[in-house]
Amino acid sequence: STTAFAFILASYLIGSLSFAVIVSRLMGMADPRSYGSGNPGATNVLRSGKKLAALLTLIGDGAKGWVAVFLTASLGATYGLGQQEIALSGLAVLIGHMWPVFFGFKGGKGVATAVGVLFGFSPWLALACLATWLFMAVVVKISSLSALTAAVLAPVYAFFIVGTQGPYFGTCLIIAILVVHRHKSNLINLLSGREDKIGAKADDQS
Ligand code: G3P
Repeated sequence: STTAFAFILASYLIGSLSFAVIVSRLMGMADPRSYGSGNPGATNVLRSGKKLAALLTLIGDGAKGWVAVFLTASLGATYGLGQQEIALSGLAVLIGHMWPVFFGFKGGKGVATAVGVLFGFSPWLALACLATWLFMAVVVKISSLSALTAAVLAPVYAFFIVGTQGPYFGTCLIIAILVVHRHKSNLINLLSGREDKIGAKADDQS
């Protein structure tokens, strides 16, 4: 329907708000796509050394995932939208983050936004993924490896927490594939032992 399309388009536009780029501009910093991994995400903004900018990026990119899903689930419900449209909103906000219309389609890897989306689907599902990310971050101290582990386990958690009835399990599977796909350069660095630790500055890198 037209209403469904409007909510899904709005979700894509919300996703296109790349907080790494927006926060960096507002704080007078370089575009995160110009240093470190080149990724507009909290991990790479942290490589600038500005912890507050990284935190604001993390909060903004996470919150927008939840906001898009929540809008479709709450306001959308009054227009008769249901789980299908909620799931598509979640995909749309993530796609907006990865390929943002406002920033030359050069977006991020979707980790924070995916957690926000999953929180909108099921708080327990998001918390399981977040706990996995945090556990790995404490143990291996590598952002991408933590994200990849959480992404691979997300559909497993979804299987047990939301089940395979309804659209959330399949959507979670697609989200996991998209997030892993966006980490190709990280996989190459991980396999060659060149991936840096969380908190290393951009100019510390070889
Ligand atoms: O959140 C993205 C993270 O998993 C990797 O980012 O900058 O190390 O490629 P980056």
